[in-house]
Amino acid sequence: MPLRLILVGPPGVGKGTQAALMEERLGVKPLSSGVIFRAEIEADTDLGQLAKSYIDRGELVPNGVTIQMMLKRLRSDEVRKKGFVLDGFPRTVRQAEALDVELETEDVSLDCVILLVVDDEVVVRRLAGRMGCTKCGEIYHSSNKPPRREGLCDKCNSQLLVRKDDNPETIRERLRVFREETAPVAEYYRAKGLLREVDAAGDAEEVYAEVTKGLPS
Ligand code: AP5
Ligand code: MG
Repeated sequence: MPLRLILVGPPGVGKGTQAALMEERLGVKPLSSGVIFRAEIEADTDLGQLAKSYIDRGELVPNGVTIQMMLKRLRSDEVRKKGFVLDGFPRTVRQAEALDVELETEDVSLDCVILLVVDDEVVVRRLAGRMGCTKCGEIYHSSNKPPRREGLCDKCNSQLLVRKDDNPETIRERLRVFREETAPVAEYYRAKGLLREVDAAGDAEEVYAEVTKGLPS
């Protein structure tokens, strides 16, 4: 049976890093709403232009377009076959409710929802050193995961960039929005008995070991 998982957690906790490890080692399809929005921005689509106006301020993109965009991805043959690890979606209780309706229609259920937990100061340190590949999306960190050659991706040799929303003011706003809008999503899944909290303070391998502990094989 393919795995169906959700990673919930504040900005910079390591959702994208864990989702990439899960794709590599478990074969599940990572679906990151942030990554999809940034690709739309890069391609300068209407959705990208709309999303940019929110993302640059650290605000959430409106539920309607976000839900539509993510449910479309969930209906792909690849996702049906491989399963999924959702990263950054659902981020509001309304998005979680819409996902529930979709999963019910597809007659599938979630295996578990993992809440990654760290202190704000760790988040700020992780975001301060982050760089991402402009082509393949590989995530690096100046001290925790430096690329072999400065400014270039180990995997595809493309340029690494710092995200525009990784500045102190926007990070503060993203943390505020997480507490207000996304922390209730964790409670929504806790009430359904699906939530597992994982301490995400260790290095990426330690967190991966915790995250995957007890997952159905
Ligand atoms: P999104 O792209 O989802 O950003 P985010 O939630 O703020 O999370 P990040 O991607 O910043 O961090 P991450 O947890 O993935 O950490 P990473 O693995 O990179 O969303 C961006 C924006 O899009 C939102 O603000 C919003 O505007 C919009 N949006 C997205 N989804 C939406 C939705 N559903 N509804 C509405 N709007 C939406 O790691 C961070 C750094 O730490 C890296 O450098 C990494 O190398 C390092 N690192 C990772 N793990 C470890 C570790 N264990 N130890 C040491 N270093 C580590
Ligand atoms: Mg991410």
